[in-house]
Amino acid sequence: MTLNTKSLVWVATAILAVIGLSLSPFALAQDEEMLLNTGDAMKTQRTAVVFSHDLHMGLYECLDCHHDFKEGVNVLDEDTLEEGNPDIRCSACHNDQADVDRQKAYHRQCMGCHIDTRKAGDASGPELCGTCHLSAR
Ligand code: HEC
Ligand code: HEC
Ligand code: HEC
Ligand code: HEC
Repeated sequence: MTLNTKSLVWVATAILAVIGLSLSPFALAQDEEMLLNTGDAMKTQRTAVVFSHDLHMGLYECLDCHHDFKEGVNVLDEDTLEEGNPDIRCSACHNDQADVDRQKAYHRQCMGCHIDTRKAGDASGPELCGTCHLSAR
């Protein structure tokens, strides 16, 4: 196979694109269709919730959902948003001892935004129990 300059440039561009993609924070959790089912009650009371992280990442800033408040200011370092980091799990802070426990945290963030967005007249997400906790699962 002979490579002319044009195809060499193309190959170099493609390699750079792949490297760039794997270094980008966006690649870390991008393709994830997350299954949110961390609580014991999830097993008995309600089914797990399918969360298209990918879709939401395309619509909002990371810090719209992920936070670490210091005196009311979100000081979360975006570089810590890495797959497998236990500190960024909602339940790391919103546990059974917290005023805003895990269920409240999720419900307020998920439903709160869906309600606001619907009221603003834009396309939005589910608000009814059975449309997040899909019974078919
Ligand atoms: C609409 C809300 C929302 C937005 C926007 C968002 N995330 Fe998330 N993200 C979540 C939720 C909810 C989880 C699940 C947390 C848990 O399991 O406790 C999560 C989990 C993660 C995880 C952990 C994955 C794992 O399995 O360990 C990473 C990494 C992550 N997000 C990165 C990002 C990055 C980077 C951005 C911005 C480009 C972003 N997120 C934007 C809500 C969001
Ligand atoms: C590092 C600890 C920490 C992590 C991780 C965290 N939170 Fe929070 N969150 C807080 C603190 C602190 C507050 C503000 C104080 C309070 O009201 O308890 C808060 C407030 C909130 C609120 C507003 C509560 C209200 O009063 O209405 C929601 C909703 C929320 N968090 C959801 C989430 C979700 C969803 C995740 C995961 C994507 C998450 N939090 C991850 C610490 C955390
Ligand atoms: C900051 C705003 C915001 C937050 C927070 C948010 N959503 Fe959404 N969600 C949206 C919007 C906007 C749409 C509609 C997107 C569209 O149709 O273009 C949507 C759509 C959805 C859909 C339907 C699309 C699909 O993937 O099937 C589901 C399910 C969903 N959200 C679940 C959740 C869950 C679960 C959480 C919490 C972990 C959450 N959302 C948090 C704004 C939000
Ligand atoms: C926008 C999506 C959404 C809607 C609507 C919703 N939930 Fe949830 N719910 C969640 C998520 C996400 C969790 C947390 C999953 C996890 O623990 O990872 C959760 C957790 C729960 C839990 C488990 C608490 C625990 O401690 O394990 C119960 C029970 C529950 N929801 C009941 C309801 C009921 C009842 C309704 C209707 C009033 C409802 N949910 C509506 C997303 C939703």
